[in-house]
Amino acid sequence: MDGNGRWAKARHLPRVAGHRAGVEAVRRVVEAAPDLGIEVLTLYAFSSENWKRPADEVGDLMGLLRHYIRSEIDELHRNGIRLIFIGNYKALKPDLVTLLETSAERTRDNSRMTLAIALNYGGQDEIVRAARACAAELPADQIDAAALEARLDTAGLPAPDLVVRTSGEQRLSNFLLWQAAYAEFVVTDRLWPDFDRAALTETVAEFSQRERRFGGR
Ligand code: FPP
Repeated sequence: MDGNGRWAKARHLPRVAGHRAGVEAVRRVVEAAPDLGIEVLTLYAFSSENWKRPADEVGDLMGLLRHYIRSEIDELHRNGIRLIFIGNYKALKPDLVTLLETSAERTRDNSRMTLAIALNYGGQDEIVRAARACAAELPADQIDAAALEARLDTAGLPAPDLVVRTSGEQRLSNFLLWQAAYAEFVVTDRLWPDFDRAALTETVAEFSQRERRFGGR
């Protein structure tokens, strides 16, 4: 969800105003995604590297996340959204962890769309944790791609078909490193706070033009 900072800077506003506008974009996109047939929407909200940001910005992001979950959970549940969290979210503040876990539990049987929020998430960290779990549970000759995949945070979810990168960034930034092996990429110059239903529709239309070969021909 890149571009919150640049959106704020262009308006001579503090960065937190960009993140607030980013949350509005989250609301719009979460509402639009199931209508477009999206079964799983994963949002990269806080990376394991985002701790390097100034403490007040980290605090603002956690506050916005807490507020988003508290204020949206009823609506998400009503709309049939299953909420899950990926990443090492258990290392966040205990009250936030409780909020996340009770929200996930409340929506666990919903099936219209899965909304996965990546929190304290890093693809390399996720692969290391899964590799350790494999090593603890299996003899070396039984560790294969399926065994590792079953121990990723995304176990049970389909691999992403499409990765969208906003604000013109052309890198993966430690997002779903394993899972995105065959994902299509769409990079848009639009900043995340300007992303909306129409932008998501355009992106999905671009994706549907792609010819996918998964290594075959
Ligand atoms: C990247 O923009 C955005 C983030 C690091 C945070 C995204 C978080 C939210 C939108 C709020 C909480 C999340 C949810 C799901 C409610 P940037 O700050 O790197 O922008 P820049 O690249 O323009 O500086």
